[in-house]
Amino acid sequence: MRELVHKEDTGGSTIVPGMSPRLLAPKTRLRGRGVPSPAGAHVTVEPVSAGNAPPPPSPTVARVGGTAIRLLKQGPRATMQRVAARVGPHLYLSDEHLWFERDLDLDLDLDPAPPLPEGLVLVPGTAAHFAVLEELHSVGVNEAQRRLDRGAQWWLVFDGDQPLFSCWVFRDWAPVLAAPGGRLALPPNAVVLEDSITTPAARGRGIAPRTWNRLAADLAGGPVQRILTKVAVDNAPSRKAVGTAHFTEIAIMSFRRVGPWKRTTVRSLGPAPAWLLDGLRAA
Ligand SMILES: CC(C)(COP(=O)(O)OP(=O)(O)OC[C@H]1O[C@@H](n2cnc3c(N)ncnc32)[C@H](O)[C@@H]1OP(=O)(O)O)[C@@H](O)C(=O)NCCC(=O)NCCS
Repeated sequence: MRELVHKEDTGGSTIVPGMSPRLLAPKTRLRGRGVPSPAGAHVTVEPVSAGNAPPPPSPTVARVGGTAIRLLKQGPRATMQRVAARVGPHLYLSDEHLWFERDLDLDLDLDPAPPLPEGLVLVPGTAAHFAVLEELHSVGVNEAQRRLDRGAQWWLVFDGDQPLFSCWVFRDWAPVLAAPGGRLALPPNAVVLEDSITTPAARGRGIAPRTWNRLAADLAGGPVQRILTKVAVDNAPSRKAVGTAHFTEIAIMSFRRVGPWKRTTVRSLGPAPAWLLDGLRAA
């Protein structure tokens, strides 16, 4: 059974089992505020001298404290906008996503994918990499830890010490807001790719599609036959990137939340698997 394991690359880039010394032995510790967590709490990256570090504040204290500091620093208008941006989606949300699939059986017919640009390395993410979450504007530390705890795979691309790209691969179930309970159950032959992000300065260099190609190549020939991912309908760069990586559209999904009420509709655009349609329609 082939798994997504780190291994030496044969094409100019390398998957390395670890991290640069700077990121492996950070002189900082996560504390306070700054990195958004799913619950809205923030943590910041601050130097901590050994021995005299105060205990970290509770998430609630940190959240209230962070808001008060922002109120003083940025004024009421900016603070209200920030609070509205965070609370708003819990009251009203309406979005439309396309589901894409890469059929790994078809990979056999594809030309070999181009490797990552010279010098870039693909690294399996661990807790030692949490310091890069803020830089990549990815998920919060708490959510990242939860994902790793339950076996999700986190993949990062580095140029030296500089993180350029991050994505997650889920098995068994994937976090999908539009699915019942926010979880989409997955069969053993499918994985879901989520939260792909390339740092703004590195966009347009093909880093995202080349990384996905690489992950697909590692999965091909094993029990996983398809990689699914969803993209907001109006996210043109992402739609282009998944197209470059041989993903095809299979379904369109609309989700609306008004207060406690949620409604998901999904329509097949081709050979969408029944478990996907049924799993989303059950919402
Ligand atoms: C979607 C995303 C991951 C693609 O990563 P990438 O490594 O830039 O991928 P690519 O280099 O293949 O670029 C894809 C498209 O982005 C657009 N693009 C190119 N340069 C760009 C830039 N400097 N800034 C923004 N978009 C750019 C182009 O349309 C490009 O398609 P093309 O190469 O056919 O012209 C990246 O745009 C991103 O992080 N976006 C914000 C987060 C996001 O939307 N994630 C997707 C969730 S599904």
